Amino acid sequence: MPIIFDENKRIFTLHTRHTTYQMQVDKYGYLLHLYYGASIAGSMDYLLTYADRGFSGNPYVLGGDRTYSLDALPQEYPTLGTGDYRCYGLDIKNSDGSHCCSLHYSHYEIVRGKYSLQGLPAVWAREDEAETLRITLKDAAGGIEVCLLYGVLPKADIITRSAIIKNTGEARMKIEKAAGACLDFLFGDFDVIKFYGRHAMERTVERMDVCHGKMSFGSTRGASSHQFNPAVILAEKGTTEDLGGCYGMLFVYSGNFLCEVQRDQFDQTRILMGLNSDLFSYPLEKGEEFRVPEVILSYSKEGLTGLSHNYHHCIRDHVCTGRYAKDVRPVLINSWEAAYFDFNGETIVNLAREAAELGIDLVVMDDGWFGKRDDDNTSLGDWQVNEKKLGCSLGELIERVNGLGVKFGLWIEPEMVNEDSELYRAHPDWVLKIDGRAPIRARNQLLLDFSRAEVRNNIFEQICAVLDQGNVEYVKWDMNRSMADVYNGRVTYDYVLGVYDFAERLRTRYPDMLIEGCCGGGGRFDAGMLYYTPQIWCSDNTDAVNRLSIQYGTSFFYPTRAVGSHVSAVPNHQTGRVTSLCTRAVTAMAGTFGYELDPALLSKKEREEIKEQVKTYKKYEQLISHGDYYRLSKPTDACCGWMFVSADKGQALLNVVRTRLEGNMPAAYVKLKGLDETALYRENATGMTYRGSALMEAGFVLPMNMIEYAAYQMSFERVEE
Ligand code: GLA
Repeated sequence: MPIIFDENKRIFTLHTRHTTYQMQVDKYGYLLHLYYGASIAGSMDYLLTYADRGFSGNPYVLGGDRTYSLDALPQEYPTLGTGDYRCYGLDIKNSDGSHCCSLHYSHYEIVRGKYSLQGLPAVWAREDEAETLRITLKDAAGGIEVCLLYGVLPKADIITRSAIIKNTGEARMKIEKAAGACLDFLFGDFDVIKFYGRHAMERTVERMDVCHGKMSFGSTRGASSHQFNPAVILAEKGTTEDLGGCYGMLFVYSGNFLCEVQRDQFDQTRILMGLNSDLFSYPLEKGEEFRVPEVILSYSKEGLTGLSHNYHHCIRDHVCTGRYAKDVRPVLINSWEAAYFDFNGETIVNLAREAAELGIDLVVMDDGWFGKRDDDNTSLGDWQVNEKKLGCSLGELIERVNGLGVKFGLWIEPEMVNEDSELYRAHPDWVLKIDGRAPIRARNQLLLDFSRAEVRNNIFEQICAVLDQGNVEYVKWDMNRSMADVYNGRVTYDYVLGVYDFAERLRTRYPDMLIEGCCGGGGRFDAGMLYYTPQIWCSDNTDAVNRLSIQYGTSFFYPTRAVGSHVSAVPNHQTGRVTSLCTRAVTAMAGTFGYELDPALLSKKEREEIKEQVKTYKKYEQLISHGDYYRLSKPTDACCGWMFVSADKGQALLNVVRTRLEGNMPAAYVKLKGLDETALYRENATGMTYRGSALMEAGFVLPMNMIEYAAYQMSFERVEE
């Protein structure tokens, strides 16, 4: 029984395979958090302490008792205005203008299966894989009902949280802030690990002390953003990849978010993940409900690798949906860095011809095929094929590509409009804009108001009319600017729901089409989009060395299968760096593999090398996509390594890029992980055999060669003795 309610003590206990989560309705009806961590038995209410807290708030119902304060007790869903002065999960502005919501327990329900959230992506599971707990809390004075949702997936070591807020009163109220989940810790020293960045340099890992006061990060850019990923780890001090307790919070949402971490006056730690309160003030009329997007929680007692594995499995098996959640992804070649806007139909057919020869499955016609778009200043919103530029119809082009035995894919950017477009000239009022003010431009484009159904419908119909012209088997859905001109308090949220509605309709209408997410690279790389688009272009930066860092940061929460990664030309277009074709391929094989260059410009030798790379990727695709991923070192180390190990530990693929060269160089070693320590493994290139324990405890010696950024890829196989 993953969810247990102890009627006497009014304690809810949630058990997963290796973790326990516990909370209690106390005698005053407050829902207090008792514990989250490694599996335990028994009631944890003995942990609560009651000293004189007269200098904090004491609820009125307690009479003169100064020992009870919500400012000191651990809570499940802290609200503003209750005498808890720490960060809060919920801020309600009542109809009289006051900010107060005091939630008391009303009732609960336990059901089989995992709850879903109407209009929002969420973790899904079969009936026998999950249980749901709903705890309803009420604020009688304000007419507010909050239903806290808990989804428990025991085998996956995952607990999800969400909340539904309902106006049960008579008057309109406003939600000023709403978190999906809160975790309170009574004691302990923690680090917080977050993933910051910028366009073309996403998800850099930063680890810092949790100090007294509040630390926060998030997005107000309309998308989850390049600048911070909606994911966070709270790690006990000293936690490493393999040792120590750590907690993850992953927001299943693609818009503005806020994560807050606070160490309070009593050295307790609180962490919250939810919607950003900036630019947000959501009105709820009598009887209306609001769904807070879900947070996926996990805990690992065995360091960061264990936590990452929990999230990788969860995203692969319980977040991604549709055929391509499981199916092998095509190796693709994309026209963007090969030709930018300078292409015609012949260019695409030529890429397809090269693809056929090199073993590549699919060619993508990126930006520039519609309206009169020959640069990035025009035509977004006009989703009509530029047949003049292509020199043929889309249907004819696709037939030619398919005739070569290659699949065809197309780039779209549905949420955008250029002022220089027929759509904008006809509907200038369809963009996000504040009355009386000029809108903010970015990349010379404006954002269509996807919170409005008529706007979404128009674009959906235009895009479907294009996709119906031929056998389009892949779509790259881009989004190349941040939101500005937020004209009211609800549009940031309603916009994201509009995006999800569009995504849902697209994947329902084209169930066999692979949709890859993109947002100027990885600006909307989150679990919300992964529900609809099982792979996302990881970054506009294709430099292999920068990718080591970007993919390293991405790997803490997201599986390799989610990461769009391509080999591009050198000197690299973003950094000017030159790396070998081998290094670029080894790095790109830590993702869904592809190319982003013009093979016609390469030598015969390089093309032969590409053929081999594609074969290698296809050979190890199952291991890379479904195996366990291990970080072996940091991208800043002299050797940056990672590896994949099959579930049965029979196969492993070691990857290392040497990032530093020095004179009179020391030998380089790498310790492998995840192998069967008693088994014997053969390294396939040399035929040498090693004991699993030796490879993991003593390490593997890397060949010494003097090539800048040399990459090594070695496969190991368990052999019978
Ligand atoms: C974004 C994408 C790129 C490419 C361009 C096209 O930057 O991330 O891959 O599609 O848009 O304009």
